This record gives sequence, C-alpha cells and structure tokens, in this order.
Amino acid sequence: MNKNETGRFNDKVVVVTGSATGIGEATMARFANEGAAVVGMDNNTVENEGTATSINAAGGLALAIECDVRSEDSQVAAFATVVEQYGRIDVLVTSAGIYCGSALVDVPMERWHNIEATNLTGVLLSNKLVAPTMVEQGSGSIINIASMAAKTSWPYSAEYSATKSGVVGITRSVAMELGPSGITANAVCPGNTVTAMVRGVAEEIGATMDMTGEEWLDMRANDTALKRLAEPWEVAGLIAFLASDDARYITGQSIEVDGGLILS
Ligand SMILES: NC(=O)c1ccc[n+]([C@@H]2O[C@H](COP(=O)([O-])OP(=O)(O)OC[C@H]3O[C@@H](n4cnc5c(N)ncnc54)[C@H](O)[C@@H]3O)[C@@H](O)[C@H]2O)c1
Repeated sequence: MNKNETGRFNDKVVVVTGSATGIGEATMARFANEGAAVVGMDNNTVENEGTATSINAAGGLALAIECDVRSEDSQVAAFATVVEQYGRIDVLVTSAGIYCGSALVDVPMERWHNIEATNLTGVLLSNKLVAPTMVEQGSGSIINIASMAAKTSWPYSAEYSATKSGVVGITRSVAMELGPSGITANAVCPGNTVTAMVRGVAEEIGATMDMTGEEWLDMRANDTALKRLAEPWEVAGLIAFLASDDARYITGQSIEVDGGLILS
C-alpha cells in the first residue's frame, strides 16, 4: 500500500470512474498524493493507462482498469478485479460522464439513450456494485459527480440536465439506504471546469448563441462571483474532503463547487 507520512488516505482504496482525463484524473492524483491506492476505470484505455503511469512514476500506487460504465458486465468484471486485488473499497468516485446538447426538437433518441446509459445507468451500476463490499466493511464514502445542471437549467441541455438531476436522486436514496451501514453518499455539482468536456460544451452551446467556444467560456467565467472557471484539482479538493473523516456526518447532500455561479 502507498504510504504518505501526512496522508489522510493511507491504507485506503479509492475507485474512480472516468479517471482517464479531467476531474477524474485530478481526483486520482489527489487521493494518490494523500496516500491512497487508486484504481481508475475508464473506456479510454490509452489515457487511463497514462493517468496510472504518471501516478506510479511519482511514487504513488495506481491501477488502470478498462471499463465501459454503460455495460453491467464490464463494471462487474472491473469491481471484481479491485476486490480480488485489494480486498476492500473505501471510496467510490463516479466521474465518468459525457455531455451533449441541441434544440429539443433535434434530440436523436440514440443520443439520449447513450447519455442516459453513461451518466445515469453508469452511476447506478457503480453504486450498486460497490455497495456489498462497503456494507461488509461497515464503512465507505460514495461521491457521485453530478453538475450545476442538476441545480439549474439552461436551453438545449434537457438530456444532460435530466441525467445529472437523476444522479442527485440516486445519491439521496443511496445515502438513506446505506447510512445504517456506516456509508456516506454525496453528490458534487461542479460549475464550468476547464477540461476537454467543457471545451466541447462551449463549442456546442456557443454555436447556438452565435459565439465562439472561447467567448462562451468567457461569459460563463464572468457569470461567477470569482470571475473565473474552475480547475479540475479544485473539484478534486471537495471530493477528497467528502471522503475524509472531517465529513463523516455529511451525507445525502449535493454540493456546488462553482465559484459562486448559482447564488440564491
Ligand atoms: N467540466 C465541467 O465543466 C463539468 C461540469 C459539471 C459536471 N461535470 C461532470 O464531471 C464529470 C467529469 O467530466 P470532465 O469535465 O472531467 O470531462 P472529461 O471528458 O475530461 O472526463 C470524462 C471521463 O469519462 C470517461 N468516460 C466517458 N464515457 C465513458 C464510459 N462509457 N465508460 C467509462 N468511462 C467513460 C472519459 O473517457 C473521460 O475520461 C462528468 O460526469 C461531467 O458530467 C463536468
């Protein structure tokens, strides 16, 4: 096991879905830096191996597992590998997700089924598959990555908003069901965070508003109290806090990390 003198997560095993890039990648690095053994599950095999390789090169302990979160068989195999290798799972972070958007009348059903399978079925399956291990331990933290799109809505994003609102619903129910076993479940709702995904979102939504992607991102930054977008490691900071002992009495919550975008 990876040891770190000051690590909050020494001897802990942390599973992150969507670990190849963005918030998931930053989360892997954050937990590894604080002493955890981290396991990344992603269907982008090359980038996922890259995340694990750089953590291991820096003295951490990381394992990359190829996994398509839309597939129950793929997730069952991935979680079985973790339990076989480490015997426990202390923290689950579900960061795998995709975005798509367009006018409602243009929503193709195939696209809807794909985002639903990734963002909603994927999260439900990960929570379902980690539960037996955490219940047996009598401890664990589940952190599902939702979005500010679960708290507010904007045009051309019905599919994404629906899936992220669903993630918050799953989280509340899981918190109540698994709380008696000493397990917390919370959702993190990031605002616009500088990742490949947000650049794609900027291009798509910007185009509907006659803006370039950069112009749309500038507008979003200006909408926040802090007048800037988030960096992935700033989202990882909240995730790590929710998995730490300092957050033992926080459960069933959905918490914004959005620079003051939604203030009411
Ligand atoms: N970046 C933002 O502004 C923002 C804002 C709110 C919420 N989020 C959420 O944060 C999470 C991470 O997004 P990000 O910005 O880091 O984007 P990202 O595209 O960098 O990361 C998403 C990761 O999910 C993986 N993934 C996608 N489909 C998958 C599948 N079927 N199986 C396994 N892995 C899959 C990708 O390979 C990638 O590594 C997502 O759930 C996203 O909806 C992001």
